[in-house]
Amino acid sequence: MKLGIFIPIGNNGWLISSNAPQYKPSFELNKQVALLAEHYGLDFLLAMIKLRGYGGETEFWDYNLESFSLMAGLAAVTKRIELFATAPSLILPPAFTARMAVTIDSIAPGRFGINLITGWQRPEYSQMGLWPGDAHYSRRYDQLEEYTQIMKALWETGRSDFKGEFFQMDDCRLAPAPSQMPKIVCAGQSQRGLEFMAKYADYNFCVGKGINTPLALSEMAAQVQATSAAAGRKVEVLAVFMVIASETDEAAFAKWEHYKAGADIEALAWLAKHSGADPRADSNVHQYSFPPTAVAHGFGMLIGSYASVAGMLDELDTVPGVGGVMLTFDDFVQGIDDFGRYIQPLMKSRARTDTESAEAPHA
Ligand SMILES: Cc1cc2nc3c(=O)[nH]c(=O)nc-3n(C[C@H](O)[C@H](O)[C@H](O)COP(=O)(O)O)c2cc1C
Repeated sequence: MKLGIFIPIGNNGWLISSNAPQYKPSFELNKQVALLAEHYGLDFLLAMIKLRGYGGETEFWDYNLESFSLMAGLAAVTKRIELFATAPSLILPPAFTARMAVTIDSIAPGRFGINLITGWQRPEYSQMGLWPGDAHYSRRYDQLEEYTQIMKALWETGRSDFKGEFFQMDDCRLAPAPSQMPKIVCAGQSQRGLEFMAKYADYNFCVGKGINTPLALSEMAAQVQATSAAAGRKVEVLAVFMVIASETDEAAFAKWEHYKAGADIEALAWLAKHSGADPRADSNVHQYSFPPTAVAHGFGMLIGSYASVAGMLDELDTVPGVGGVMLTFDDFVQGIDDFGRYIQPLMKSRARTDTESAEAPHA
């Protein structure tokens, strides 16, 4: 199965807790993460875009780098791993995003792709005067469809004359062409989001559910399979989980309890308020602030000894439609190193992965 890392482009990764490791994002940190991931033979890195943090005592995500420029830097220092940046479609015009993709493709030929998002947190955009109004909630994937068609036409033909409701091109040009079509990934979970992914995506991210219940993703994976099959395509699921691992199950759960005890209540309240703003009940953005994993941004958790986590990832690999998993860690550098040294070698689903022969790169 494919394995990737949701890299720490924002402060403190995905743990909203004063007891979790406290750090700011930097190129150096993300380079270290990227080189470690590449060293252990992992397949891809993804950087989100987040333009407004949640505040609170941990200033959660108040510090965030920009996704494409970070990936351009990582493209230059890596050799093999695939790289995905996230395009905020309310901010970057599609022709500009397409050109940035071509630029990064020229740094890392064939390795670059785009995570397409509609935007769900109003203050990220309203602070810049770029929120189109709350009607956006119900029309966001209509806009993203036009956006994607323009980018694809520019990559494939070098031109677009697209005339739509949201975008009008006028003999728009793009050259050079990318070395190959950049992959499109997205994370739609609502019915409309799934319809979008079925038409355009190569992979769809689905947030794992609960604690140590990898099979709970089966229902969502089946939905992705059915929706993409109905559109005549096959889109695989990349599951998203946070790993908290240690030598024993007890030690790993002790870390989780400690992180939960330090929950940043103010930042979590911001998350609950804004993730609940989309009135459509099926938008799973709501799930981000649900207990029991709200402290980990609502992600599914894999907590336990190295062997337990390896076993759960192998279990995930048996779910039809799941093509891989993207991981976050409580401590990224230590977490990826432990993953590469102790967890991956125990995974049957990664049996043929070669670690590069050199010593793991350390800071
Ligand atoms: C792995 C992953 C990455 C995401 N990246 C971003 C991001 O960078 N910025 C953002 O605003 N939303 C991001 N989202 C939110 C999704 O794009 C999407 O809006 C969300 O999963 C809810 O699905 P829906 O839009 O179909 O309701 C991400 C979600 C996941 C699971």
